[in-house]
Amino acid sequence: MKILVIGGGGREHTLAWKLAQSPKVDKIYAIPGNPGMAKVAECIEGISIDDNDRIVEFAKQSAIDMVVVGPEAPLTNGLVDALENTGIRAFGPRRDAAELEGSKSFAKMMMEKYQIPTAKFKVFNDAESARAYVREEGAPIVIKADGLAAGKGVVVAQTLEEAIAAVDNIMEDKSFGAAGSRVVIEECMVGEEASLLAFTDGETIVPMISSQDHKRAYDGDKGPNTGGMGTYAPAPVMTPDLVNQAVEKVLKPIIAGMKTEGRTYKGCLYAGLMITEDGPKVVEFNARFGDPETQVVLPLLKSDLAEIMQACCDGTLAQQNIVWSEGAAVCVVLASGGYPGKYEKGHPIKGLDDAEAAGTMVFHAGTAEKDGSVVTSGGRVLGVVAEAASIKEAVDKAYAGVGKINFQGMQYRKDIAHRALERMA
Ligand code: AMP
Ligand code: GLY
Repeated sequence: MKILVIGGGGREHTLAWKLAQSPKVDKIYAIPGNPGMAKVAECIEGISIDDNDRIVEFAKQSAIDMVVVGPEAPLTNGLVDALENTGIRAFGPRRDAAELEGSKSFAKMMMEKYQIPTAKFKVFNDAESARAYVREEGAPIVIKADGLAAGKGVVVAQTLEEAIAAVDNIMEDKSFGAAGSRVVIEECMVGEEASLLAFTDGETIVPMISSQDHKRAYDGDKGPNTGGMGTYAPAPVMTPDLVNQAVEKVLKPIIAGMKTEGRTYKGCLYAGLMITEDGPKVVEFNARFGDPETQVVLPLLKSDLAEIMQACCDGTLAQQNIVWSEGAAVCVVLASGGYPGKYEKGHPIKGLDDAEAAGTMVFHAGTAEKDGSVVTSGGRVLGVVAEAASIKEAVDKAYAGVGKINFQGMQYRKDIAHRALERMA
């Protein structure tokens, strides 16, 4: 099988790495890929991931058997539709199904209609009524830009002033452009968060191992929100009973509901959950694998990822036997100094081979090649991943790998998996 992976971050490196282990896969291409992915894939330059026509043309010319779409933007941009319409198999939801991530108001409307537990909410198209509602409800309260805002369109406001400022910023100042012409205002939920990703062919759902992300930049969950500074899997907060509740009350009804709506959802569905006193409630849906959740979930998958993805595309997921490792995995993200604010690029990275020799896997996120060596080129630069029998062992192993790597300004959290370690102590 020939596979094309769309994207070039840590998630896509992990996807390509796992797909390359399949005996069924002869060749992997990546658009655009990255220097880490280049070890397992041929990286194609000069095609934008937003250019559906050129991607379709490349896939046809290269006789691709399956395209795996990593990021949300090409999914909401209809890349899967464009590929399937020309007879090319594509893993990921079509545009109308990717709306579950692309429009928060659509996702909330679906949850209301199909009685899926989530925070109480209201949708507003004008700033004045949004502000009036905020005043009526009081703080804490959560303000969300409706559309895609690269993870930055959500404000958990602790005071009324913050909430009003968030409405103004999103709706009046249009800080997220068109994504903010509508807002969702919700009740602030309390609990521990966990991510549950699932494979689905539109009918059958197979949950993956649960995981937990660390969204804040600094130790102790302080500082600004980021794309994710580290992850671990499984998440001890997600007991087998809670996973079962999430499957029965969230995953099954949303997938069935999407089918009823004529928007059959296939690919990977990511449920961001808050584990509240009343059980799991949905914080958000994403139409793709999580980043950096993928970096800890896929190393624990024992089965053939290419076969599973093909089954998701072909509607035969029920026939797959999906097996997970009993162990645990931890990912520590190494970021550029200053991230998620301004940061420098182009600093040489040292110690990549030493980290691998220490038994960790190093997934590239924001790297580039310059004069034959690997340099930094993004905010999140690398994900250092270790797999072990327990989370504690995986944490120690991951940080041993981190200790081998160095670049100017390198910044990372030293407390990845602290909640899991506290819970298990
Ligand atoms: P999202 O982009 O929807 O994942 O939101 C980003 C983060 O905001 C989440 O990971 C939560 O930590 C927080 N958040 C979002 N919605 C709520 C809510 N209703 N209650 C409490 N926290 C929330
Ligand atoms: N790590 C959070 C996300 O992928 O959305």
